[in-house]
Amino acid sequence: LWTPARIVEDAIARVKETVGNDHVLLGLSGGVDSSVVAALLHRAIGDQLTCVFVDNGLLRLHEGDQVMEMFARNMGVKVIRSDSENLFLERLAGVSDPEQKRKIIGNTFIEVFDEESSKIEGVRWLAQGTIYPDVIESAGAKTGKAHVIKSHHNVGGLPDDMALELVEPLRELFKDEVRRIGLELGLPRDMVFRHPFPGPGLGVRILGEVKHDYAEILRRADAIFIAELHASGWYEKTSQAFAVFLPVKSVGVVGDARRYEYVIALRAVETVDFMTARWAHLPYELLEKVSNRIINEITGVSRVTYDVSSKPPATIEWE
Ligand code: XMP
Repeated sequence: LWTPARIVEDAIARVKETVGNDHVLLGLSGGVDSSVVAALLHRAIGDQLTCVFVDNGLLRLHEGDQVMEMFARNMGVKVIRSDSENLFLERLAGVSDPEQKRKIIGNTFIEVFDEESSKIEGVRWLAQGTIYPDVIESAGAKTGKAHVIKSHHNVGGLPDDMALELVEPLRELFKDEVRRIGLELGLPRDMVFRHPFPGPGLGVRILGEVKHDYAEILRRADAIFIAELHASGWYEKTSQAFAVFLPVKSVGVVGDARRYEYVIALRAVETVDFMTARWAHLPYELLEKVSNRIINEITGVSRVTYDVSSKPPATIEWE
């Protein structure tokens, strides 16, 4: 019987047999797949694993610290963190086209990842969090977002001279199995059941040009939204929920003073496959609370809107 415990046991045995005493490199993103690979490989080969975590400045509130806390501090995994916000934001300055932004973020990621990993001696294997649906997807479509993303996130662009061989322990598993073995490996529930987050991160949730100040506002608005979804029991009922930063200004009043500030859009969807999606019918009281909190707690935001577009024709992300 293929219980999570058996799958873990089997995967550990296979990894050990495959890599022997060699060193393995893993790009850790904080997402479910790479996190499960990190936990699995750590259990299988301990110190032979080194993870590289690139903080691109486009992550959610405290996300970088949480990744380090969970893996490096709590589990004792070797993680090299590269704080590269400045580099990413420099490269993104003046760029507002969504696909261009994706390309820049993807290429910069590969560059930073290469540089960090070239400092590690004696690596022979590159571990990836490829899961079964990714295998099918890349066998089919050659173009499109998902492919670009996966090649960026799973680091397809390593230079040939590194000559790393791939180890992909989740290659035969579906997402729900990956989640179950994540729990089996002791990863916390809220990390294992976290909504998906795109590789380019807040880069595609800040419409148009990406700026540090915009990212700061968005991170805080998003954190309020997600906290209230958790508190009301709606987080698990939605498949993906997040805030979007609109770089347009709208008039508001506080006391006697008028203010002229940015707009935050809230997006929450229900979907099975992310190909089609319905906007989540969140209770008005919840939306009201989130809106009040965002406007009252974040200077720089004077208006909150809720996105009632379904996919198709709208996409889940705004860019
Ligand atoms: P859309 O916006 O196309 O999103 O309806 C469908 C799913 O894909 C995610 N998404 C991305 N993931 N890199 C990623 O890793 C990307 O560039 C990207 N664009 C969209 C999106 O978050 C949703 O889950």
